[in-house]
Amino acid sequence: MISTYEPALKKIRHYSANACLLPICSLYGAAVTTVEGVGSTKTRVHPVQERLAKCHGSQCGFCTPGMVMSIYTLLRNHPEPTSEQMIAALAGNLCRCTGYRPILDACKTFCKVRNKNSWVLLVFFLFKVSTRLFSTDEFQPLDPTQELIFPPELMRMAENQPKRTLFFHGERMTWISPVSLDELLDLKATYPKAPLLVGNTSVGPEMKFRGMFHPIVIAPARIPDLNMVKCTDDGLTLGAACSLSLVKDILTNAMAEFPEEKTKVFSAVLQQLRTLGGEQIRNIASLGGNIVSRKSTSDLNPILAASNCMLNLASRGRKRQIPLSDIFADGVGNNTITPEEILVSVHVPHSRKGEYVSAFRQAPRRENALPVTNAGMRVIFEEGTDTIKDLSIFYGGAVSTTVCAKQTCRTLIGRHWNKQMLDEACRLVFKEIALPGSDNGETVDYKKTLIVSFFYRFFLEVSQSLKTMDPCHYPGIPMEYRSVLQDFKTKMPQSIQIYQAKLSQSPQDPVGRPIMHQSGIKHATGEAVYIDDLPSVDGELFLAVVTSSRAHAKIVSIDTSEALKGPGVFDIITAHDVPATNEFYYSDDPEIIFARNKVICVGQIVCAVVADSDDHAKQAAAKVKIEYEVLEPVILTIEEAIQHNSFFAPKRKLEQGNVDRAFETVDNIIEGEIRIGGQEHFYMETQSVLVVPKGEDNEMDVYVSTQHPAIIQEMVAASLGVPANRIMCHVKRVGGAFGGKLLKAGLLASVAAVAANKTSRAVRLILSRGDDMLITGGRHPFIGKYKVGFMNDGRIRAVDAKYYINAGCTPDESVLVAEVSLLKMDNAYKIPNLRCWAYACKTNLPSNTAFRGFGFPQSALVTETWITGVADKIGLSPEKIREINMYKENEQTHFKQKLDPQNLIRCWNECMEKSAYYSRKTAVNEFNKQNYWKKKGIAIVPMKFPFGLGTRYLSQAAALVHIYTDGSVLLTHGGIEMGQGIHTKMIQVASRELNIPMSCIHFCETSTTTVPNACASVGSAGTDVNGMAVKDACQTLLKRLQPIINKNPKGTWNDWIKEAFEQSVSLSATGYFRGYNENMDWEKGEGQPFTYFLYGAACSEVEINCLTGDHKNLRTDIVMDIGCSINPAVDIGQIEGAFVQGIGLYTMEELKYSPEGVLYTRGPDQYKIPAVCDIPEQFSVSLLSSSQNPYAIYASKGIGEAGLFLGCSVFFALRDAVTRVRNERGLKKTFTLNSPLTAEQIWANCADDFAEMVIGNRASPSLFGPDPSYH
Ligand SMILES: Cc1cc2nc3c(=O)[nH]c(=O)nc-3n(C[C@H](O)[C@H](O)[C@H](O)COP(=O)(O)OP(=O)(O)OC[C@H]3O[C@@H](n4cnc5c(N)ncnc54)[C@H](O)[C@@H]3O)c2cc1C
Ligand code: FES
Repeated sequence: MISTYEPALKKIRHYSANACLLPICSLYGAAVTTVEGVGSTKTRVHPVQERLAKCHGSQCGFCTPGMVMSIYTLLRNHPEPTSEQMIAALAGNLCRCTGYRPILDACKTFCKVRNKNSWVLLVFFLFKVSTRLFSTDEFQPLDPTQELIFPPELMRMAENQPKRTLFFHGERMTWISPVSLDELLDLKATYPKAPLLVGNTSVGPEMKFRGMFHPIVIAPARIPDLNMVKCTDDGLTLGAACSLSLVKDILTNAMAEFPEEKTKVFSAVLQQLRTLGGEQIRNIASLGGNIVSRKSTSDLNPILAASNCMLNLASRGRKRQIPLSDIFADGVGNNTITPEEILVSVHVPHSRKGEYVSAFRQAPRRENALPVTNAGMRVIFEEGTDTIKDLSIFYGGAVSTTVCAKQTCRTLIGRHWNKQMLDEACRLVFKEIALPGSDNGETVDYKKTLIVSFFYRFFLEVSQSLKTMDPCHYPGIPMEYRSVLQDFKTKMPQSIQIYQAKLSQSPQDPVGRPIMHQSGIKHATGEAVYIDDLPSVDGELFLAVVTSSRAHAKIVSIDTSEALKGPGVFDIITAHDVPATNEFYYSDDPEIIFARNKVICVGQIVCAVVADSDDHAKQAAAKVKIEYEVLEPVILTIEEAIQHNSFFAPKRKLEQGNVDRAFETVDNIIEGEIRIGGQEHFYMETQSVLVVPKGEDNEMDVYVSTQHPAIIQEMVAASLGVPANRIMCHVKRVGGAFGGKLLKAGLLASVAAVAANKTSRAVRLILSRGDDMLITGGRHPFIGKYKVGFMNDGRIRAVDAKYYINAGCTPDESVLVAEVSLLKMDNAYKIPNLRCWAYACKTNLPSNTAFRGFGFPQSALVTETWITGVADKIGLSPEKIREINMYKENEQTHFKQKLDPQNLIRCWNECMEKSAYYSRKTAVNEFNKQNYWKKKGIAIVPMKFPFGLGTRYLSQAAALVHIYTDGSVLLTHGGIEMGQGIHTKMIQVASRELNIPMSCIHFCETSTTTVPNACASVGSAGTDVNGMAVKDACQTLLKRLQPIINKNPKGTWNDWIKEAFEQSVSLSATGYFRGYNENMDWEKGEGQPFTYFLYGAACSEVEINCLTGDHKNLRTDIVMDIGCSINPAVDIGQIEGAFVQGIGLYTMEELKYSPEGVLYTRGPDQYKIPAVCDIPEQFSVSLLSSSQNPYAIYASKGIGEAGLFLGCSVFFALRDAVTRVRNERGLKKTFTLNSPLTAEQIWANCADDFAEMVIGNRASPSLFGPDPSYH
């Protein structure tokens, strides 16, 4: 939080900002409050921190300080905020773990109107079970008088010190901050190339990510003329340095002050400001910066230009005013801003009588995402008529800057506002706004359609307004068109969580209770330590990697000469520096630390620079020159891999029944194919490692963010050629992993270890987000081809399928992922005759790896897709086909493992009931009848999620428990804390077993020194297996203590421990769990690869906007069977978090590559994970009651992954909505929707009239649906 003091107004302003974009020089005179300053365990934990932790709003905790600061800043300005303000404050924060619900629960406790609505109350009434995951009674009140004050010395400085020009000289740059306009104009004349830096949100990313460099920057933010706000007779004049937040506030106030007729421009600008960036961006980004940057994606320029806003420009000795529209390449005039000129202020006019102004935008995510296309439109009519007097239409996102449809506007002047005008306008606009082509053409078609459909939307809006003005003359628009005039808005979600409370349990026993994450408070106070928080070690070096820019090429030469000359550069590390293993053979093809001789993907590590700072290392890495000779073939896609027969062995097949014969007897056959895109883990903590050589016996401490310390130890030891007993791996916690921190973390740790070995220095490697996304791979892109045979009554008799996954350039665990996709392909259905092949395609993309769900989210989506295909074919609903084919009694899977599906059916039925599926389906039908451009869809999907790792040794686990003579207990085990709350649960287990309070038990770290050879924390198995080991250790200790307890049953724990020590009883024990007896015989195609099954069902409802493809998640109800939950707060958090990650996979997250295999989507700018605006408005999770599981600790079930697949209920609800659109429009042709089902795909599949116009370049007569009969 930044706080500044304005002496003239005697006002303190508090605002949140992104630290990574904020130049330190801009903070002169400001106070900065970080999460550590808000509160700490050593002083006082602030109510925001406390409530976030106690409401279970942190899992891995990496995003938590950011959340705290956003909420805290809002509360400093508004101690009792509305829920709208709260939602807006969090729009710019991302969390990859929680699914946001618990964070919002914490927020709600501060809001003015608490969240209680009839929906929640109804659920309470229906189900008398526990719904409390936290108790508000425990919360400290928020007392604004207790907050930190603004530092008086800064206040005095602002009041007393005359303002003077500031100069800051850095290593390479000079920052000049003048205080008067004249001085600024002089500076600008002297340094015309120097940017004016206000918010740095445009220049900053260019310097950081695109290598732009400015030796001098001028910061004009302190100049009064650039901060002025003036109300004139004809509008508002706003200083160019005003922040977008300030502009938003000013316009909001003006809306209240002036009559509606005068504020149409203000309202349209506000509409864009609400979703422009997040609050942190709007707080620092300036109005002038947005305008002058002239970015194609500016949301303000199109609307400001269309509204005839004027720019007040100044240069030395000259002032002038020009229309804003003039600054674009095709502007009406040629008045563009010269390099010596600066923008002083912007005049935003009042609207006039008979003038209509609107702004539109469509973005990959509704909030905090740059637009695909946007528009600003204004029309004014001859008084008392609908004859166009003036029309302005401006678009953004189309070409490299804002563009005006001026020909169209000119032609339409004098025309009536009617259907003929509309037809012609669409044709003209379509023709005039020429878009440059793109690689696959899809986005161009989409943009073209948006350009036309925005005008159509404007037409509808104005037509409706005309009716309001004069109902006798203007008919308005048909009722069923009206809903499209309302944009989707983000509301504070309503949620409910239901679980069974164990009433008969001893109050001290924590098992089954919603205990707060053991590190929750530390996450919220910023005290939780991640790798990059570790204090620097003496002489420590920073490492930056140099990666390949070719997908398949011979390395001809590596020229490091320039890089070695860079400041602070210590050394450059290549494959030649690896003392022992550079290539790890876990199968036929190797995993590689440094590329040697050739590269096999873009993003492969070729060498690394070590330097005295992160910046120096990165600057030098950019100077390493690598010459390549391209090798053939370059295989990027699954199709190309099939063509070149490029696969990792073995290919797998499962078959049961007689598939060929079954196909001969069925009534119907469908064939199809679905493509499922990959997914980036996007853990908040990027891959991180700190390697510290200890200076003797080749010992090294490796602090690493991994799910698998043992493999890090093994790989580092092997790469250095030392025994594993010299490498000590330590993991305190991991800031999210989701499967992405296994082998890849091992390779990166080896890179750092080789560098540390060569330099004998500690080496820190923290991947930037861009490098992390480029190098480490993610979920496998997938193609499922299927042929399904079924009877007229919906019974599926035969399935023949082929699955292909894009493994990338090395095997990693891809074959295993392919195997799992086969084993789990049946999802919840009994398919009597089934044959499926799975292939791991070897390509020249970065190697893909494990990701939550491990093949199941893809293969089960294929299954659900053919289920809907069958439903479409025979005209039954998908839920009927699901019910007909669902496992019903004790049956066998397609690999002959027995299963009892009773809880599957219970989940399905309960979900049906809790979601009121059939009545809501009727309501959806009704809505759809009454709305033409907006449609709703609803879907319910069942799930069987098998638990198991396929073989016993992978699920063995160990624990180590020490009791100290003061009675305190130190616990450790082989599991890794990555947000899933494993340590909290293990402490719960130990507390129950030893019968002591949780507060007596501490967990310090997971380390290879305390628990050797621990298996990876994967496959939802951490709690299951480590819980058994902890229980074993505790029982061993208790057995030793039992004679002492028996002798003194009234004694205390401390008495017994003291006595035990005096009797020389060992107070330390290991615990062990051998693992589950799992096996799979791939030759026979049968086995018991799983130990038990989780079940679930989810029902989701959505609404789509057919004009743009935008959608809103309205409601989701999940029922999940997870046995007896050890910690319902943690488990529900896992379900919700995974579900929201599933929404990301199936509807939003899109990886894009160039035709040469370069990943384009390398950061939050281009790759959109779900944000607060994406979670369902109503979100309920119920844990199935009375479910037992004899195979796992305390009858629980491992829950980490299963919820992700249920995100596909949103995918199928969207499909349902699209189907309804197509049916209404008579489009009967079968269609396939691929994943992710983005707005563009939704549009392409339902906005066919527009699409036809765009693609076929003609206006169809049915373009605008039923004729609204204009005169
Ligand atoms: C994460 C993120 C999300 C964003 N989302 C959106 C979005 O959804 N929609 C959208 O429209 N924009 C978005 N933006 C862009 C943002 O609105 C602009 O970058 C911002 O408004 C620019 O203002 P600034 O003060 O930060 O500019 P700076 O980076 O400080 O400067 C930008 C440029 O403008 C010039 N300049 C600034 N002031 C003047 C002046 N008075 N006279 C002459 N030249 C001047 C500078 O010389 C410089 O070249 C986003 C940016 C980020 C980082
Ligand atoms: S808790 Fe939010 S990213 Fe992990």
